[in-house]
Amino acid sequence: MQTVSQSKPYSLKDWQGGNCSLKEEFDYWIEDVEGEIPAELNGTLFRNGPGLLDVNGRRITHPFDGDGMICAIAFSQGRAHFRNRFVRTEEYCAEQKAGRMLYRGVFGTRKPGGWLANTFDLHKKNVANTNVIYWGRKLMALWEASHPYHIDPHTLETLGIETLNGALHKGSPFAAHPMIDPGDEHREPRLVTFSVKPGPLTTITVYELNLDGNVVEKHDHRIPGFAFIHDFAITPNYCLFFQNPVTFNPIPYVFGLRGAAECITFHGERPTKIWVIPRHESKPVHTLEADPCFVFHHANAFEQGDRIIVDSVCYEDFPKVDHNLNYQETDFDNMQPGQLWRFDLNLKSKTAKRDLLVSRSCEFPFIHPALIGQRHRWVFLAAAHEAEGNAPQQALLKVNVETGEQEVWSAAPKGFTGEPVFVPKPNSLQEDEGWVLDLVYPSFIILEKNS
Ligand SMILES: [Fe+2]
Repeated sequence: MQTVSQSKPYSLKDWQGGNCSLKEEFDYWIEDVEGEIPAELNGTLFRNGPGLLDVNGRRITHPFDGDGMICAIAFSQGRAHFRNRFVRTEEYCAEQKAGRMLYRGVFGTRKPGGWLANTFDLHKKNVANTNVIYWGRKLMALWEASHPYHIDPHTLETLGIETLNGALHKGSPFAAHPMIDPGDEHREPRLVTFSVKPGPLTTITVYELNLDGNVVEKHDHRIPGFAFIHDFAITPNYCLFFQNPVTFNPIPYVFGLRGAAECITFHGERPTKIWVIPRHESKPVHTLEADPCFVFHHANAFEQGDRIIVDSVCYEDFPKVDHNLNYQETDFDNMQPGQLWRFDLNLKSKTAKRDLLVSRSCEFPFIHPALIGQRHRWVFLAAAHEAEGNAPQQALLKVNVETGEQEVWSAAPKGFTGEPVFVPKPNSLQEDEGWVLDLVYPSFIILEKNS
């Protein structure tokens, strides 16, 4: 029998290089530039993510438990300036002062002392590591299970807990994926977001903030069963929530044996429920059932008469979280790929069907910001280098969801891509006329459409 050795487009060692702590905080003009930074590109790109993957040498067991670090890349007249700062959460400050790990993590990190030290400790360490958004003249670091932190956009100094002028209190859950509704000639732009309080009955709270950052609409909805909802989609009239078919067994979490996310079980025999919640009026809430799948992120949604179209990245299973597995040794071959699907929701017939748009492993969809809630054609994603199978993201994919046309840019074999950010050119006429910005370990790129 002949043995065929198949080489991969990446080495796990290179990938591991991007999964370690960055303890230093920097502040400098970027001088090492290949090509030219477009002079028309002005403004600041803020990014957030886990920057500290150990506490004084004790490793955390999953990157999602890492303390949030914000990077700001400011573009001005063809130059770029870099700055990074950790979010000084209460827990980050306490651990840095103590010089040791003091808290459990939601994704399985346990503080020293075994199960006895962790049992009945249900405090959720706010790592403020998932997203950062500028709205209402405020920069906020977000983590969905607790309150936002207010950050100075110039210095990245942490200014304290953000309550949205009293609408939230300390510890209030607040989603990490708010949507900016761009509005139109009749409606001013709004920040639309939500919180989830999971339980046997889950409460979803929808918030809408005006341009001044004040909460101008807030409504609660109780849905049966546990819900793990990380992201949502909006249209001018609706918020869309996908209730993944999962259950939660709190016992190992309460007894300090497992992190909360490790206690989630996916049920491939149950449908994914889609909650269509009206944004403004007391119209009925619609519940639709789709094929079983797990969704973290949505690209966009838009209305077509009695139908709503939603493009989302789906998995056939919930990616396993287990603190006994070393994430540095992640076996990408044995994980399900995320794939881009189009859901067609019919509010009249109460049906939901879905079609595959992109089979290549992909995540982190992004569209033209002015088309949120409107019909879009182009979606930008981080994707695997190869079209088949599953692998870490090394490429950027641009897909026309109407024609199927695709363009791939790849950083393989040494580079690894993150969520792309599309920035339209000033006065652009075409939907894809602009720049794609991406943090690509170990560098940073700007891709420009030549038009
Ligand atoms: Fe996310």
